Order: sequence, then C-alpha cells, then structure tokens
Amino acid sequence: MQTFTTTAALTAAINEAKQANRTIGLVPTMGALHEGHLSLIRRARQENDLVVVSIFVNPIQFNNKEDLAKYPRTLEADCAAAASAGADIAFAPSVEEMYPEPVTTVYHFGPIEEVMEGPRRPGHFSGVAVVVRRLFDLTQPTRAYFGEKDFQQIAIIRNLLEQIKYPIELVPCPIVRADDGLALSSRNMRLSPEARAVAPNIYATLVQAVEMSEYEDVESVRDWVLDTLSTFHEVNSLPNGLRFEPEYFEIVNDTTLQPINDWNDAPGVVGCIAVWLDGVRLIDVIRFLPEEE
Ligand code: PAF
Repeated sequence: MQTFTTTAALTAAINEAKQANRTIGLVPTMGALHEGHLSLIRRARQENDLVVVSIFVNPIQFNNKEDLAKYPRTLEADCAAAASAGADIAFAPSVEEMYPEPVTTVYHFGPIEEVMEGPRRPGHFSGVAVVVRRLFDLTQPTRAYFGEKDFQQIAIIRNLLEQIKYPIELVPCPIVRADDGLALSSRNMRLSPEARAVAPNIYATLVQAVEMSEYEDVESVRDWVLDTLSTFHEVNSLPNGLRFEPEYFEIVNDTTLQPINDWNDAPGVVGCIAVWLDGVRLIDVIRFLPEEE
C-alpha cells in the first residue's frame, strides 16, 4: 500500500488508474480505524480494481472544538490496518493540503438536514459535504463506501450526489457491532471501562423497542426508549455518576428521515439515537421496517 500526503501524488496515481480504465473504490474515513471501517475497505476491495482510503480528521465538520481536539489520531496503526484489509492507497493529507484556501462553500439539504443530527450540530453536514466532494474530485471514484451507523450522513451524501450530478455509486454498508452489541465507533475508545461495560445497553434497548413495536404505537415506543435510558442509572445503581443522557431518539421514514406517527406511515422505518455516556456522544440505528431477516 502506498501512503500519500499530497493531492499531487494522489492525482498522479488516480490519472494512471483512469488511463488504464481501472475502477476505483473510495472509503472516506477520519481514521481511528476499527472493524467497521475495515469491512468497508474489504467490500471496496472485492468490487474495485483500485481501493483508496482517505484518513483525514475534517475540522470543518466539527461544531464542537473539544470533540475535534479529542478525536483519536492513530495514523500509523490506521495505515497498517488499511493495508491488511486490502487498500492500495491511503491518502492522509494535512488540513492545509486539503484546504489551501479558506472554505466558503455552504451546502443545503432541506428537510433531511432539519432533523436529528442537523439542528444539534449546525454546519456539520455542510462540512461533511465539502470534504466528501473534495475527495470525490480528487479520487474520481466508481463507488464510494459509507457505514450505515451514520444513517443521516448517507442520505446527505445521496442528496449531494444528486446536486452535483457525479456518476458515483453510493454503497451503504451494514453497521458492525462488538460481540456485546455495541456499534463500533472510533469514539468507543474514549469510554472508561465502566462506561464501555454498560454501553451495549443502548443497542439492547433498541432491540427491545423493535419487539415492542409489534404491539405498541410509535409514540409509546419512542418514549419508552428515552425513558429506559434516562432512568437506567437509577434502576441499575450505576457507579461514579455514570448515566445515559439521550439527546434524541427518532423513529423515521428511512428515505425522507421525517418522524413517523404510525407504523404504516412508511414502508421503511428506522430508529436513530444519539446518547451521551461518560462524556462521549454515541449514535446507533435500528431497523423497524421492513423487518430484518
Ligand atoms: O463518517 C465519517 O467518518 C466522516 O463524516 C467522513 C465521511 C469521512 C467525512 O469526513
């Protein structure tokens, strides 16, 4: 695997691949690679001639300075992991290399950005769109791979592709979970051992919510999830002030991302949650409809 830190080196490699009519798979990441990322890289490896993994902590998608500062940076280990999963190129530019000029572009996505993460992280999705478009321009991929844990991000990228009319196939990939059910995330490594031990209760609660949806209405299921996590520390006497603080749990149409009121409101329904635990913001997604096999 080759590691490039300049756009010039990446462009030269991409031009060569394009001239040889090779297909290109892009896996955009912010590093701190885990099995979830590696599953995207392996899939890209199966489906493309050349696999490019970008490793770039994108400052303009962070609306919280502390979160940006604390974001794990593990470049050496990331390159080794990307290589072992089959990547051909790791592109790890500096901020100056990625953004030689101040960024002035702002993207708008309408109703899909007005829910869940959107209002809570102002500017986040525009920042994601700016970096993803830049990566698309630099790598000209045939296919681009994104994990479904960031469910709303996938809808945003799909909308971005419609806006900019690039013929890139968007490939959403399933969430990868630890054996205890916790959705893998680069942020998990910031959890204390005590917090890591209780974190799987987020997914366990979502699984129970899906069971409940067979006999309870949407509002009751939504309220139950929020209530169960908010009171978890009392019911289970968690130590050291440890507690779940849900920021939102929304049950939404999987295409429009708008909240539903009735299980028959949409053919595809997912539940999306953001929860604070131990100073770490965790997100997860569960499918209600159509039922998972
Ligand atoms: O999902 C992420 O890790 C980031 O939002 C992405 C797509 C790499 C853009 O910085």
